[in-house]
Amino acid sequence: MEQILEPSERGSPTAARGSAVKESPRIGYGPALHEPETVRGTQFHRRMLDIALPRTSWRFSLRDKLSRRGMHKLFHIFVRHHGARRIANFVRYLRQRERVVEAGYMPPLVALDLSNRCNLKCPGCATGLGLGRVRGSAGFDLARQVIDQVSGTALQLGFFHWGEPLLNRTAYQAIEYAVEQGLWTVVSTNLSFPIDRWLHAIFQSGLHDIVISCDGTTQDVYERYRKGGDVELVFKNLKRLRAMRDELGQRTPYLRAKMIVFEHNWHQIEEFRERALAAGADEVTYAFGYGGESYQTGTNGGGHYFDLTRLEWVRKSPAGACTEVWKEIFVGHDGAAFSCCLGYRDEDLFAGPADDGQIDVAAIWNNGHYRASRRFFAEGGPSTDLPKGCQDCEFVTAQVELQSTAPAEPQ
Ligand SMILES: C[S@@+](CC[C@H](N)C(=O)[O-])C[C@H]1O[C@@H](n2cnc3c(N)ncnc32)[C@H](O)[C@@H]1O
Ligand code: SF4
Repeated sequence: MEQILEPSERGSPTAARGSAVKESPRIGYGPALHEPETVRGTQFHRRMLDIALPRTSWRFSLRDKLSRRGMHKLFHIFVRHHGARRIANFVRYLRQRERVVEAGYMPPLVALDLSNRCNLKCPGCATGLGLGRVRGSAGFDLARQVIDQVSGTALQLGFFHWGEPLLNRTAYQAIEYAVEQGLWTVVSTNLSFPIDRWLHAIFQSGLHDIVISCDGTTQDVYERYRKGGDVELVFKNLKRLRAMRDELGQRTPYLRAKMIVFEHNWHQIEEFRERALAAGADEVTYAFGYGGESYQTGTNGGGHYFDLTRLEWVRKSPAGACTEVWKEIFVGHDGAAFSCCLGYRDEDLFAGPADDGQIDVAAIWNNGHYRASRRFFAEGGPSTDLPKGCQDCEFVTAQVELQSTAPAEPQ
């Protein structure tokens, strides 16, 4: 008979012990609360899977698109503002992605990290670990240039990458300008700071989506990853945002609570959904957590993710080409640019800082590094032309291995 963990047993380190436990890599952030061998397949585990997994399936994507927010976003980006230009750019992207070296379109997704400073110290994040590029914040002039250059073509502008966006005053000015220019705007925030002085700016800016990263429902579990954070403050802030939105009668910002699932917090998935919805979230999403050891080894894209079905850390094994170099650009506070969300060091950069304060997104998008990377993935070009950081990336090493073991072309 299967073992069912009752609520009182959840989280108890002793609840799941007692059976022979298979050795699995301990990459998590503190000792596991449940031994996978004992909990896997129980009714409790299945219920957690039911809650978390449909959200990443095609059914969820369809439901997401047909949701109130989804329809609003589609209308906003394809009908209301620069519709014809955006559609044309998007169609060009769909036809050329993973094929061309020189992109005949602008990046459909753009991230602009106006500051890479943060109030927390998450151990799986380069910023939280004090690693990565020099810390700094951008001025509005740089943001305006980027917005002007991408507003007619990009599907959305995310104002975050390696920092806490809502603690930066320039971010609100930039978001407001981006909204005026017809862009769909998104931030991801830890929301673990007193929000009063920023509330007015959040609503004034017209921001569309706020993703609230909150990885637990109780302080002891939450702070294993969100070091320095306060879970009660996060839920209190979420409530305040919802109350103010209702009071103002605004549709936006949409409030999207996000839980990153690790071995230490997976048992709180259900409670998280209940708490977040009760506090006013419009939707709840789950993402599997990445192990932070890629920062220690200096290998981009390397590492493990926590697999909820197996309740284990699983080594990532990239299949196929990296698609990021056709899809998104990540601009930093000084105008330097990365090609993907995993880049965090100087050697990962696809473009250096805009020392004269001028940035040209179109020129970066087809510069030598972008062309070398697309040539590598689309045509089997040399990996030695890639930035040093990319040469360590698992997508690249997997592709190099594939190419070296491919059977020779018949004569
Ligand atoms: C580096 S954070 C910056 C934005 C903001 N500070 C935050 O935490 O939401 C960007 C995104 O990465 C996610 N993230 C952070 N650590 C992660 C991990 N170990 N695995 C998966 N996603 C992670 C965050 O939840 C967030 O959505
Ligand atoms: S809150 Fe976000 S930026 Fe800050 S350390 Fe955590 S993941 Fe990194």
